[in-house]
Amino acid sequence: MAQSVKGMRDLFGAELRWFQHIEETARRVFGRHGYGEIRTPILEELDVFKRSVGESSDIVNKEMYQFTDKGGREVVMRPENTAGVVRAAIQHKLLINADPVLLYYIGPQFRYERMQTGRYRQFYQIGAESFGVATPESEAESLLMLHSFLTELGLKHLVFSINSVGTPESRPAFHAAIRAFFAQRADQFCEDCHRRLQSNPLRVLDCKNVKCQQALEGHPILTDHLDEASARHHARLKALLTDLGIPFTEDPRLVRGLDYYTRTAFEVLSSDLGAQSALLGGGRYDGLVKQLGGPDVPAFGWAIGLDRLAMVLQQVRGEAPRQAPALLVPLGERAATEALKLARSLWEAGVALQLETRGGALKKALASANRLGIQTVLILGDGELETGTVAVKHMATGEQETWPLAEVTARLANS
Ligand code: HAM
Repeated sequence: MAQSVKGMRDLFGAELRWFQHIEETARRVFGRHGYGEIRTPILEELDVFKRSVGESSDIVNKEMYQFTDKGGREVVMRPENTAGVVRAAIQHKLLINADPVLLYYIGPQFRYERMQTGRYRQFYQIGAESFGVATPESEAESLLMLHSFLTELGLKHLVFSINSVGTPESRPAFHAAIRAFFAQRADQFCEDCHRRLQSNPLRVLDCKNVKCQQALEGHPILTDHLDEASARHHARLKALLTDLGIPFTEDPRLVRGLDYYTRTAFEVLSSDLGAQSALLGGGRYDGLVKQLGGPDVPAFGWAIGLDRLAMVLQQVRGEAPRQAPALLVPLGERAATEALKLARSLWEAGVALQLETRGGALKKALASANRLGIQTVLILGDGELETGTVAVKHMATGEQETWPLAEVTARLANS
């Protein structure tokens, strides 16, 4: 039997229902903040990621689905969406005047990673990018939107972890400090860290190796080496988050696995995911638009892993909300005609309802309702047709009652 490719899975049923609920919530919340959707192609030219995510990153180094197409182009199945959105915004001249541009995306990404819980090779991200504003206030706005999104989904115990990675101008001072620190205990660090020290010293802080983590004890702190403007920026963001009641901690080792960040970098962790798994990450990337050939436009954004978010919600909230929590079951041919008419009026009134069209015994319909997790079953038989009513069975309690037909729409809409 053919199987899906390792790390790639079919989405259906309960898991997909969570995906849909998350996506609907995202569109509603982001729309409220004035963000518009963008959809970029899955394939981008290799250069787009080399020049953004960075040649020293694990993503570009080890994890890209990369091939030469029939026209001889070096292309990549996007491992993330920020670079593609920036490429598109430049190509379509979305950033040529001074207006802020607020965009969000929802879609699949591809990384050839080692398999772990909540880690896939085809995974999904929801992301939001804000272009054109360099202020801490724009970061607070974006983080507030993220906070509303997660809160409306019902997540409460999340911690925002923040840091500042400074600017390309201020970073050499920190690089020097970390190199000096490293030199004193070089033998305690792994081979990868020795390589990282050459290509991107910040990455040493991010090593997951337990020995390296121990060796890092007492390491130089990024925020002690910031230029004055970055330090002010960082302090202002922290004050805003405090004022807004968004709980956060400072993580001096948070540097992120992508090269484009400047100043603010952040992640949100969920204890439900197991060790080392971030639910989402993001930050400021003021140099990226220019680096990819566009105007000098600052930007801030983040992306959340939809797969991981759905997993956490399943753990915290159980079953995803159903599209059709009610089922209408007609008994007999006359009732079947009336049921179609009743269902039509309910659907047109915006009520979610599934219609039993197989005919046959009530028992069979109730058994299906049970398996489908339907909460309310409306039964329409000859007796109900005579009296202009519908029999209603509440599946959780087994209770049964009678509703006048004229009240069905209102009662279902409120249930
Ligand atoms: P990232 O940290 O590489 O950032 O990915 C963001 C989120 O995508 C992660 O926190 C995680 O939830 C999810 N994710 C990443 N890899 C996998 C995987 N293999 N399986 C399941 N989920 C995964 C970015 O991609 C940046 N573009 C974020 C950003 C947007 N920065 C600024 N704007």
